[in-house]
This record gives sequence, structure tokens and C-alpha cells, in this order.
Amino acid sequence: MLLVACQQTDAAESAAVQPGKALYDQHCAACHGTQGAGDGPAAVWLFPKPRNFSAGLYKIQSTPAGTLPSDEDLYRSIRGGLGGSSMPAFDYLSEEELRSVVGYVKHLTAVVGPNGERVNRFAEASAGGTVGVPITIPPEPPLTFDSITRGQEVYAQLQCNSCHGETGAGDGPSASTLKDSLGVVIHPRDFNTDLFRGGSTGQDLYTRIAVGLGGTPMVAYPDEVLNPTDRWALVHYIQSLRRKDVEVGDMLASEGALTVARVKGDPPLNPVDPAWERVESVRVPLNPLWPEPYPITGMAVKALHNGKMLAVLLQWRDEIADGAPVRVEDFQDAAALQFSLTDQAPFLGMGDPQNPVNVWQWKAGWQQDADGERPDVQLAYPSMHVDTYQEPELHGLYRTAETAGNLLASTRMRSPVEDANATGFGTMTSQSPSAQNVGGKGIWRDGFWSVLFYRELKSGDPRDVRLTPGESTFVAFAIWNGAQRDRNGRKVFSHWHRLTLNP
Ligand code: HEC
Ligand code: HEC
Repeated sequence: MLLVACQQTDAAESAAVQPGKALYDQHCAACHGTQGAGDGPAAVWLFPKPRNFSAGLYKIQSTPAGTLPSDEDLYRSIRGGLGGSSMPAFDYLSEEELRSVVGYVKHLTAVVGPNGERVNRFAEASAGGTVGVPITIPPEPPLTFDSITRGQEVYAQLQCNSCHGETGAGDGPSASTLKDSLGVVIHPRDFNTDLFRGGSTGQDLYTRIAVGLGGTPMVAYPDEVLNPTDRWALVHYIQSLRRKDVEVGDMLASEGALTVARVKGDPPLNPVDPAWERVESVRVPLNPLWPEPYPITGMAVKALHNGKMLAVLLQWRDEIADGAPVRVEDFQDAAALQFSLTDQAPFLGMGDPQNPVNVWQWKAGWQQDADGERPDVQLAYPSMHVDTYQEPELHGLYRTAETAGNLLASTRMRSPVEDANATGFGTMTSQSPSAQNVGGKGIWRDGFWSVLFYRELKSGDPRDVRLTPGESTFVAFAIWNGAQRDRNGRKVFSHWHRLTLNP
């Protein structure tokens, strides 16, 4: 075991944590900071903020409130991510890599003691014998109408509704007053979505209620105030509050590997071609970088290739289609795929200097341009006073970005998809017009977007992702919802998946 012996010298300790440190620096430091203080450069974009490890306070643990989490708890949080927050799932790291990163997180869980010495909280706890032992969870009783009704009673008795609200929407009378232990605003969980930090199984929820979420107003409800039977009843009640329409489950998507079937003919290049109905879809969970009242929690992904062309179809539920912004307060729907250009999983926030990414971005406004349907301000808001230059011959004069050849500003794009590269947050650079080789089309219908991306497998451009039958590449997805005022870093995103092209 790493780090348990207090007498271990700093040097020996540093050697033991080296492999974990390298992984941490690559995958975690941008958010959590190199010293684990929760202050990485990406942290300003995020809410809630990344955990400050040195505080020794964790939200997700199977051990009693006030004790440290077990290695298994940290392992699970890192492997599975914290649902509904920007803490991604790292299930593409190997077991060994995950174990070493757990060791490094424990190493960072340290404070400076009274004499300037470094006190590791985990080492301290094991020396003092106060390491938490996981609580016992009795077997789940059958889910019955009675247990849900009992859960509803207990929910009212213990005043869960004061924070979580009558319908579990996270809007109880105290909801707007809550702060965490660092004084940062925190929202009670919305039980209508299926997004839980520590997982949504009965056992997960049972544990969260029993031990609380460290450092938050969600306190523990131990056996003295809540007996195990009633705690299970509460779990059943909470699960019953899930809004049935939040899932893409009704699109019959299942979670699994993104394997691209090889077909003989051409893959359909129309996103609503009935041929796509016969292609199996994979559900990709999405997490918000910023809390949203109705986040898009997942999308369905389908893909085909024929040895020459790859086509990837993304489908997600969005009640309102938001096209090109016509007023400053308007935001548009958009979607992007990012691919690793190396055989590593780069830093999730658009790659890192060692691991650049290739980004394919689609925007609803570019789609309108491609379809010749871009609304002008007068059409969209007929009664609004406008002061833009509507005459086409004046565009060149007054649209300086477009005149300068800026692809983003252009209203004459060939494809609604932009082919770009990045090496980290805020570094996205569009490829030159002649290097643009990704096609696409998005169609909004009946409350769903279907957006197709396609590219020829062959490309001589080293900035283009290599697509080779029989090989796999890392891919991650992002969606911007205009109705939620999403733009730039404000979006929902997936973690890295492996996209494998069948030989
Ligand atoms: C994109 C930003 C981001 C990256 C990258 C990231 N995290 Fe996090 N992490 C977060 C946020 C935000 C939270 C806090 C979520 C919350 O409080 O609900 C968090 C929380 C955690 C927690 C606390 C779990 C608990 O029980 O409280 C651990 C442990 C953790 N991260 C480890 C890691 C490790 C290890 C890596 C790299 C392998 C990593 N994180 C990468 C954003 C990130
Ligand atoms: C004082 C306000 C408050 C009360 C009362 C309260 N909660 Fe919470 N609860 C919260 C907050 C805030 C969070 C979100 C913490 C976070 O995001 O880290 C939360 C989160 C949760 C979660 C989510 C765990 C996860 O993995 O995401 C569950 C489940 C939960 N509460 C159940 C309950 C139940 C059951 C009761 C009543 C017995 C209750 N809460 C009472 C404030 C409260």
C-alpha cells in the first residue's frame, strides 16, 4: 500500500507515487490543479468546482460521515465520474493506472501541520486507526406500492422536501440558500433527472442517505434518525420521482462499445434516411460543465463505414431547435466530435499540447446557411428595429471577419461542419478552407436533433484523425443547447470512448 507509513521518507514516497503523478498531470491537473487544490486553469469554466483534495472532504464514500473514503470509493468515483458534474468517467484507464491515480489523489490529500510538516490525512487516519469501514447495507426489500408510499411519508417527516422540493425537482423553500463548506452556492439534487454523483442504483442511494455528501448541506441520516427499512423506502420513493422522458432510452439505445459496422454500399448521408433505423445505437451519457435546469443527459450514436467513408449519426432530445443567433441574447444548437490524434486519451478539454485533437463541429446556424434558410433579423423579429446591413453587396464592406476569410463568420460555407484542431481549452483553430473535408447535415424533427457527420477515410492531412478499418481511435462528444444559452465552454460533454471501425 502506498503512503500508509508515516515514517516513509519524502523521497521514497515521491518514487512510489510517480506513475500516478504522471497520469494525474495529464488527465486531472487542468481541473484539480497540480497540487490538488481544485484550482487548475480549467476550474474557472466549471460549476461545481473541482474537488480540493487537501481538504480531505469527499462527497462519495461508503464509509461513515466524517471518515475518509475507502480506496474502492475513490476508484469508483474516478472510474465512473460524478454524474451531473464535469468530473468525467475515466473508464478507459486500465485498472493498474486507476489504482496508481487513486494513490496519487490520497498523496495530495494533505495539509501543512503546525510545524510546517506535511500531514497526509490518509496516513494520519491509518496511524490513528480511524480509517472508515464501509457501512452495512441490508438486502433491498421488494419494490412495492407500499414501500413507495412509506418513502413519501418519511420524505415529508424528515423534511427532505425543504431542500429537494415536493416533487423532488430540487426546488424546495431552502434550495436557494444553500452553500457548501467552502461557502460556494450548491443546488440540491433534482430527483426528476437520473443524474446522481454517486450512481443511481438502490445501494448507491441508500449509502448517500446514510452517510451524506461530505462538505455539503446534504447531511447523513444514520440509523439513529432513520431505520434501514425506512431508508430503503426513501430510496424507492426517490427512484419513483425520475421523469420518464429524460432518457434517450425511448430511442432504444443501450450503453456499450462504439463499434462501426462495415457495409457494402454507401452509408446513408441523410440523417433521417430510414436505413439508419436498422443500425444499432449506443447511448453516450453527457454531463454538464455548468448546472442546467434540464440538461441533455445523453444521446444515441450510430455509425457505419464502407471502407471508404465513415458516417456518424448523433441523435438527442431537444424540445426547441435553435438556429443561427439573430440577436445577441440568442444562442444556437451545436454538436461536436473530438478525436485524439495520438493513441492516447488526451486531456478532455480539447486535448493538450502532447495530444492534439481533431474537432468536427456542427452548428444549427451553419446548417441554415447550407440549406439557404438563414433568417435575417427582420424575418425572425419583424417588429424589431434593425440596424444591420441587409444589402448583399455591402456584406463585404461591413463584415470584416468574413472579408478576411474567417470561416466562422462566413455565410457561404460549403459544409455545416467545421474541421478544426485544438491543443487545449480555447485553442481551437479552423483548418484552411481547402483542408475542410468533413461533411454533415442536421435535421430537427419531433423534438429530436439528428445530426450526421461524414468523412472519407483517406486523408493525407496529419491534422485529420486517422480512420483505418480494424483500428480504433478515441472520440468524445459535446452538445450545446441554445435554449439553455450554451456557448463556448458551456455545454454538455461525454468522456472518451473508443470508436472502432470493423475490418
Ligand atoms: C473537466 C474537469 C475535471 C477533470 C479533468 C477531472 N476532474 Fe475530478 N472532479 C471535477 C469536479 C468538478 C469535481 C467535483 C464534482 C462535485 O463536487 O460534484 C471532481 C471531483 C473529483 C473527486 C472527488 C470525489 C468525491 O467523492 O468527492 C475525485 C477523487 C476526483 N475528482 C479525481 C479526479 C482524478 C483522479 C482525475 C483525473 C484522472 C480527475 N478527477 C479529473 C472535475 C474534473
Ligand atoms: C439542507 C438541505 C437538504 C436536505 C434537508 C436534504 N438534502 Fe439531499 N441534498 C442536498 C444537496 C445540496 C445535495 C447535493 C449535494 C451535491 O451536489 O454535492 C443533496 C443530494 C442528495 C442526493 C444525491 C446523491 C448523489 O449521489 O448525487 C440524495 C439521494 C439526497 N440528497 C437525498 C436526500 C434525502 C432522502 C433527504 C431527506 C432524508 C435529503 N436529501 C435531505 C440538500 C439537502
